[in-house]
Amino acid sequence: LDLNSLLNLYDFEYLASQILANQAWAYYSSASDDEFTYRENHAAYHRIFFKPRVLVNVKNVDISTEMLGFKVSVPFYVSATALVKLGNPEEGEKDIARGCGQGEHKCPQMISTFASCSLQEIVEAAPSKEQIQWLQLYVNTNRSATESLLREAETLGLRAIFLTVDTPASGRREKDMKLKFISSNAPQNARAAKNKSSRGASQALASFIDPTLTWEDVAELKTKTNLPVVIKGVQCVEDVLKAAEIGVDGVVISNHGGRQLDFSRAPLEVLADTMPILKEKHLDDKLEVFIDGGVRRGTDILKALCLGAKGVGLGRPFLYANSCYGKDGVEKAISMLAEELQCSMRLLGAKSIKELGPELLDVTGLKNR
Ligand code: FNR
Repeated sequence: LDLNSLLNLYDFEYLASQILANQAWAYYSSASDDEFTYRENHAAYHRIFFKPRVLVNVKNVDISTEMLGFKVSVPFYVSATALVKLGNPEEGEKDIARGCGQGEHKCPQMISTFASCSLQEIVEAAPSKEQIQWLQLYVNTNRSATESLLREAETLGLRAIFLTVDTPASGRREKDMKLKFISSNAPQNARAAKNKSSRGASQALASFIDPTLTWEDVAELKTKTNLPVVIKGVQCVEDVLKAAEIGVDGVVISNHGGRQLDFSRAPLEVLADTMPILKEKHLDDKLEVFIDGGVRRGTDILKALCLGAKGVGLGRPFLYANSCYGKDGVEKAISMLAEELQCSMRLLGAKSIKELGPELLDVTGLKNR
């Protein structure tokens, strides 16, 4: 199918469901238990409406912004996903790096600890100097492995560490659990995942993640690196406040795309709870708040930005785009989102990201599930 005939991210998802090998589709699409949170992540976006302003000159709309001290041309990013070679066996994460940097819009890329390619390969594949890459960090049960990954990220010039804190164990992703993990798919940083699990990829990988991780480890990580540290997978205001107290540079409000605790709340709802409290406590300038989970449309991104998110992450859509079309699919997914966002901002009456705010939204329905 001609890539140019695709209109939106759902087209990639449908195509991926038709062409991906069982193993890849099961690992990528699955979420935990009844997948209730997975559906809710997206559904929550349907409960917020816009209050457009008219008669604003919106000839030029600027969607560029800053994340963690760097200028970026789009307010969204590719979130970390493990095992990208399951869907794109030749190029894996390298094609995500290319797709993020080859087009008009340079999109930040968060690279998983469990990437199929080495960090160096992914960094070298990035075609543009303006491109931002971050490391997503899982703390290994073997702490020295984590130390060396951290050093490697610094040496290679990655711009931030996103420490994932929502995975002391893997959620039960049953589509994935029905299939045996194939050892040749083991990622660079978990080579020993060989034959570890007859219950799918997620369970095999989770055995390398340290379940003893606590807030003290986060504080310690801050002292071990000069890169910004963001914790990924925070799910309530109380923990956002703790993160602020420890002095991390940001948080990602996320439930891992519904892959961890089923019946955790949609990140959009948590974001709406969080931002007014951060403002009230004058902490909204102290740390940057990111969000991911269920984002599929420019309007979804726009809603999260109006509520105060600095950046909006997407996981599965880029996996699907990359699996179907490689780097050109990734570039296309980015441009689809950028175009949708520009169009919606025009219709909302906003010329730039800094003009967005909660006054442009009607959130009265958000809590009426
Ligand atoms: C993930 N996610 C993830 N997160 C992380 O911190 N490290 C990882 O290695 C992975 N791996 C991973 C694999 C797959 C197949 C998926 C779908 C997700 C979670 C990811 O970063 C992000 O939080 C979610 O994907 C966001 O939800 P959506 O956009 O997929 O709905």
